Amino acid sequence: MRHTDVESAANSSCTEFPKFLHNLGRRSFLSGLATFMVVAGQACRRAVQPDPEITLVLIDQTWLDRSFQERRNLELEQFTKETGIRVKLLPAPEGAVETLDTWRNLLESGAKIPDVYAVDVIWPGILAENLLDLQAFVPAQEIASHFPELIANNTVNGKLVALPCLVDVGLLFYRSDLLRHYGYSTPPRTWEELETMAARIQAGERAKGQKDFWGFVWEGASSEAVTCNALEWQVSEGGGPIIEKNMVTVNNPETRRALERAARWVGTISPPGVVTYKEWDAYNIWQAGQAAFMRNWATSHFGELIQGAITKDQFDIAALPRGRARIATTVGGRAYAVSQHSLYPREAATLVRFLCRSDTQLNRIRKIGGSPTISELYNDPGMLAANPYFSTILKTYRSDRVLRPSKETGKRYPDLSRAYYRTIHDVLEGKKAAASALSDLQTELMQITGLNAPGPGASSGPQGRSAMLRVEPPRGTDQKVT
Ligand code: GLC
Repeated sequence: MRHTDVESAANSSCTEFPKFLHNLGRRSFLSGLATFMVVAGQACRRAVQPDPEITLVLIDQTWLDRSFQERRNLELEQFTKETGIRVKLLPAPEGAVETLDTWRNLLESGAKIPDVYAVDVIWPGILAENLLDLQAFVPAQEIASHFPELIANNTVNGKLVALPCLVDVGLLFYRSDLLRHYGYSTPPRTWEELETMAARIQAGERAKGQKDFWGFVWEGASSEAVTCNALEWQVSEGGGPIIEKNMVTVNNPETRRALERAARWVGTISPPGVVTYKEWDAYNIWQAGQAAFMRNWATSHFGELIQGAITKDQFDIAALPRGRARIATTVGGRAYAVSQHSLYPREAATLVRFLCRSDTQLNRIRKIGGSPTISELYNDPGMLAANPYFSTILKTYRSDRVLRPSKETGKRYPDLSRAYYRTIHDVLEGKKAAASALSDLQTELMQITGLNAPGPGASSGPQGRSAMLRVEPPRGTDQKVT
């Protein structure tokens, strides 16, 4: 991309931001965005200077789909009506890893815009240095209305760097019509039951001529998406959440068993291509009516918004199946944060409060979907009418949640997750045996985090991973994550 292209787009009008970004190719997204921000920042400030009104720039983890954009724009118009402050919404690249790279580039380069960033639950520790402490702008009572774990997650060294707006949990979507047809009265309670039911329904539907029908779709792409899935398999089996009590505990027989089981799904009850699926890929197959079960986020229930081959009365949602130890659901979700470099911190914090407050969450959920971060809203009649699954979501969040180890590892989390998902992916693709892959992963994670493994015979978790394989700590890794 030529700098002059950037400059002319920036100078033409601040309102051209999103259109301009749409026109960028994926590969040039990062470099284009970075250059654009610098040039456009100056142009935009120049443009708004004589105007008493302020224009904030918000960069979101949102879809580029037009109907979603329209709904988001209505929300932002409401904010402008209330405050007189205008907002430009920028789209983000797809995928948590790609988005994080863009956010880091912008924030670490001191870019004055965007003013407000959407922040994944795993990012507060990575971005904290360049984000404002919202405690100075948001009344304590308002902060306390959100789930306390999310507030704790977003608090880094005493600084509240982001206010939650959406909580996500992994759930099992199932075809209630097909379950009934094949004689099942309840969704699967265990992974074994899921395997049996998925295989039987798949065989039955294929025999009826649906050649592309699959038992179970999920997210197996080498990305943060498979980190979330694999954590659920491993924790449910009793393999622990990767890091426990300041030790790396991933190399254990329970995790190995969970991984071997998932690898068996590929090409049997799940399509061979599942190892390339992110959330949308699984969702598209599900929505086309080509799968009996799907693991996806609670936010994948979009109500009326997306029409597909299956209708409301054909499916239901349940907690994920139980492993030998428990049910485990990975916590996802988002918050909003203000850049330390924003020229309008007070106004930006007002926008964050607006985006996270209860009536905005309620409206958004009605029109777009998602689950609230304010526990009180789960009893709201309007909310329950909008989504009949809120009691399942709340129960799952309260009793089955597991967090990725992003708080413990801070800036090292992206490296940890990358090592973890690459290993998982190798096992799913049959490139490595689970046992040796986990042993190598243990060593790699110890190097990345500087943490040790439990000693021989140590019991590191509630289930006691006493059979943990002994791995010598690599040299020069005695530094601890604080
Ligand atoms: C969802 C979750 C987010 C997670 C991502 C992984 O968007 O909300 O927390 O990192 O999926 O693909």
